Amino acid sequence: MVSWGPLFSFCFAALLGSLAGAPGLVLADPCWRNTTCSTITEPAFPGVWDDNIFAPDSRYVTPKSVLSASNGQTLYSWNGSASLASNGSQFVFDFGKEVGGIVHLNYTASGTGSGAVGLAFSEAKNWIGEWSDSSNGAFQGPDGAIYSNFTGPGFVNYTMPDAKLRGGFRYLTLFLISDSASVDLSSIELEIGFQPTWSNLRAYQGYFHSSDSLLNSIWYSGAYTLQTNAVPVDFGRKVPFDTIGWDNNGILGPGDTIIVDGAKRDRAVWPGDMGVAVPSTFVSVGDLDSVKNALQTMYNNQNADGSFPEAGPPLLQQGSDTYHMWTMIGTYNYLLYTNDTDFLAQNYAGYLHAMDYIYGKVLAPGLLNVSGVRDWARLTVSFNMTEAQMILYRTLNTGADLAAWSGDDANSTLWTERAVALQNATLDYCYDASYGAFRDNATDTTLHPQDANSMSILFGLVDAQSTMAQNISERLTDNWTPIGAETPELPGNISPFISSFEIQAHLLAGQTDRALELIRLSWGWYLNNANGSQSTVIEGYLTDGTFGYREARGYDYDYSYVSHAHGWSSGPTSALTEYVLGLSVTGRVGSTWSFAPQYGNLTSAEGGFMTSLGKYQASWTVAENYTTASVNTPLGTTGNLTLPVLVNGVKPQVSVDGETVETTWERKTGLVFDTVLVSDVAGGNHTIIVQ
Ligand SMILES: *[C@@H]1O[C@H](CO)[C@@H](O)[C@H](O)[C@H]1NC(C)=O
Ligand SMILES: *[C@@H]1O[C@H](CO)[C@@H](O)[C@H](O)[C@H]1NC(C)=O
Ligand SMILES: *[C@@H]1O[C@H](CO)[C@@H](O)[C@H](O)[C@H]1NC(C)=O
Ligand SMILES: *[C@@H]1O[C@H](CO)[C@@H](O)[C@H](O)[C@H]1NC(C)=O
Ligand SMILES: *[C@@H]1O[C@H](CO)[C@@H](O)[C@H](O)[C@H]1NC(C)=O
Ligand SMILES: *[C@@H]1O[C@H](CO)[C@@H](O)[C@H](O)[C@H]1NC(C)=O
Ligand SMILES: *[C@@H]1O[C@H](CO)[C@@H](O)[C@H](O)[C@H]1NC(C)=O
Ligand SMILES: *[C@@H]1O[C@H](CO)[C@@H](O)[C@H](O)[C@H]1NC(C)=O
Ligand SMILES: *[C@@H]1O[C@H](CO)[C@@H](O)[C@H](O)[C@H]1NC(C)=O
Ligand SMILES: *[C@@H]1O[C@H](CO)[C@@H](O)[C@H](O)[C@H]1NC(C)=O
Ligand SMILES: *[C@@H]1O[C@H](CO)[C@@H](O)[C@H](O)[C@H]1NC(C)=O
Ligand SMILES: *[C@@H]1O[C@H](CO)[C@@H](O)[C@H](O)[C@H]1NC(C)=O
Repeated sequence: MVSWGPLFSFCFAALLGSLAGAPGLVLADPCWRNTTCSTITEPAFPGVWDDNIFAPDSRYVTPKSVLSASNGQTLYSWNGSASLASNGSQFVFDFGKEVGGIVHLNYTASGTGSGAVGLAFSEAKNWIGEWSDSSNGAFQGPDGAIYSNFTGPGFVNYTMPDAKLRGGFRYLTLFLISDSASVDLSSIELEIGFQPTWSNLRAYQGYFHSSDSLLNSIWYSGAYTLQTNAVPVDFGRKVPFDTIGWDNNGILGPGDTIIVDGAKRDRAVWPGDMGVAVPSTFVSVGDLDSVKNALQTMYNNQNADGSFPEAGPPLLQQGSDTYHMWTMIGTYNYLLYTNDTDFLAQNYAGYLHAMDYIYGKVLAPGLLNVSGVRDWARLTVSFNMTEAQMILYRTLNTGADLAAWSGDDANSTLWTERAVALQNATLDYCYDASYGAFRDNATDTTLHPQDANSMSILFGLVDAQSTMAQNISERLTDNWTPIGAETPELPGNISPFISSFEIQAHLLAGQTDRALELIRLSWGWYLNNANGSQSTVIEGYLTDGTFGYREARGYDYDYSYVSHAHGWSSGPTSALTEYVLGLSVTGRVGSTWSFAPQYGNLTSAEGGFMTSLGKYQASWTVAENYTTASVNTPLGTTGNLTLPVLVNGVKPQVSVDGETVETTWERKTGLVFDTVLVSDVAGGNHTIIVQ
């Protein structure tokens, strides 16, 4: 059996190769290099929505069109040939969406002398040309180009060196440097380097499809971004940073595939980013191997004092209390989705050490005193900052679950009590009742941040059904501009990372239209931006509509450094599934679940995801005087239905599978849409009518 496997896959690949029959196409192993292929090979929910998947159907792709290098206009669809006539001749090859990997070129040089074909890469259309956009981290200028050198006339078969893998780009500029030669290109082929263990890049384990095509595209742009962020573990960005050019040959962690922050950069594990990226991965692509390896690399690099690095190796930046806690919250998320108790047992001692480390910073009268002052890029990180209280509150509550799952009831109880005390202190010292939102810290600052206020509702420090939550949700809209929410704690910037928390806060508060409006404003703006990737979610941007996120806060005014495929901005993907479609897991591996749809101005939605227990799927349709829904979950699981009423204050008639059922009021405030609850519905396929 052992020797039979590789022989079989060799024959299979050869068979595919001959069936494919495309002349010139190298049909190599569909997984990346020497990685072990995932057992995930087919979509869990095939359907028309697959048309919205940006991922290609092959690991080998070619450009879609050829653009003028001088003005970016499309010249022609790529047909497999282009000529670089003389020194300086250049074209831009547009792959039509974000891609990344190793480029293979075939060309014939003619004329007399030697020369080189330069290759330069960019994610954004406004950085096309002979200089790649910036990624190496040294801020000594853009990355420049790499060269395929030729010595004289003849055929050249060029493959980029592995270390020069370009993790994220849409545009490839090819230019000729030679006094006396010309070059005829006969093939440009990209070997995709992301989602390395997947033989079928379109084998999504989740889906989402609604009556709103913009929201659908945004959901899939988040999902595709997460695929571009799942990378082979030996292709991280080089540290110490190159000052010229780039190398992506850093070792990131264990296994074959690992989730990093961005496709182009940093190509390192960043646990805070995972706070958004992991829930979105779970409901869409369904690749949790990359998540496990990312968390394990954090535990493997835990410091002797119990602190986690801010980022994984080779970067290994230190000194962030918030990102320390995000590794702990990430541990909970991973366990929630998988119930990987072996992983928990293996790392629980490290987790306890991490809890002691962070809780040791709580000082009288009860707030966390931040001394690891790195964070997501907000201007001020200090002392009793409110955002850190929110994250600690989440850490303690999720820790209580992890402890219970480890059979450690004493710590579970202790951490729950500590969470209540922290909640109390945060409300007492950080809330600004006269304004109706939290201050940035326990001083009289007038700054009311987007991060802490969004998290206060999302993490339940403020009851989502309360008037306080309504006030905070309303106050958050004070930051809105026509292209997204400006974050007061990083003025001039729009952060789709922090906005990913904000949209979830509005949804929990029942402000569906408000959440959808912000998704359309911010993520819609980027997806429709002609200079963007039109297929991914961007790290951040400025309120003036340029891509210069953080230019004045660490990015050295280099507008080309921003990452256009950053999983931390993928919040709409989980939010649309968990809150708008309304399907989410509440117990480990989906042993319990919730169906709590909210319609906004949509007329229908459906979607689903997988756990090891099986498929979870739901749909709803809004008609004039009634709504219908279906929920299909694995047998043996239990869920609650939380259903919007048709008229606030009036209990509707609810039937499940044709039988009228008892309901109780879940929310009856009249402030937003009221809801009724049908408790403890057994798994299986159910039809629900609300009238
Ligand atoms: C490039 O040229 C090599 C050598 O002739 C050939 O084997 C390969 O199939 C070509 N690649 C493409 C994509 O045409
Ligand atoms: C794959 O190849 C790389 C580089 O040659 C090596 O470091 C790594 O250990 C290999 N991985 C596996 C799973 O064989
Ligand atoms: C390849 O060509 C580039 C551009 O002309 C040049 O800078 C570089 O030195 C050449 N490399 C080699 C090995 O000849
Ligand atoms: C072309 O390059 C590929 C990749 O490096 C290599 O596998 C192949 O053998 C080369 N073909 C020829 C004809 O040189
Ligand atoms: C409180 O927050 C404001 C706004 O971010 C900041 O300017 C100030 O330095 C902070 N004060 C302390 C003591 O952390
Ligand atoms: C509870 O946590 C403490 C560290 O705070 C640890 O020493 C103790 O062993 C834990 N209890 C159990 C049962 O694991
Ligand atoms: C916090 O607890 C104190 C007593 O321990 C109590 O007086 C106070 O009302 C509580 N504050 C909040 C906001 O619950
Ligand atoms: C918050 O931190 C500031 C700066 O250290 C301090 O002056 C203030 O007393 C602290 N407030 C609370 C409630 O801990
Ligand atoms: C999680 O795994 C543990 C250990 O295998 C098992 O005892 C427990 O029942 C599982 N929980 C769920 C909800 O599947
Ligand atoms: C929902 O509202 C948005 C924003 O006002 C609008 O663009 C969209 O067309 C509306 N959709 C429907 C189905 O009415
Ligand atoms: C919906 O209800 C209204 C008021 O009861 C009624 O006038 C209308 O005909 C109903 N529409 C449908 C499609 O049943
Ligand atoms: C359903 O809701 C009730 C009331 O809040 C709760 O006690 C029960 O645990 C929930 N069941 C599930 C499966 O979530």
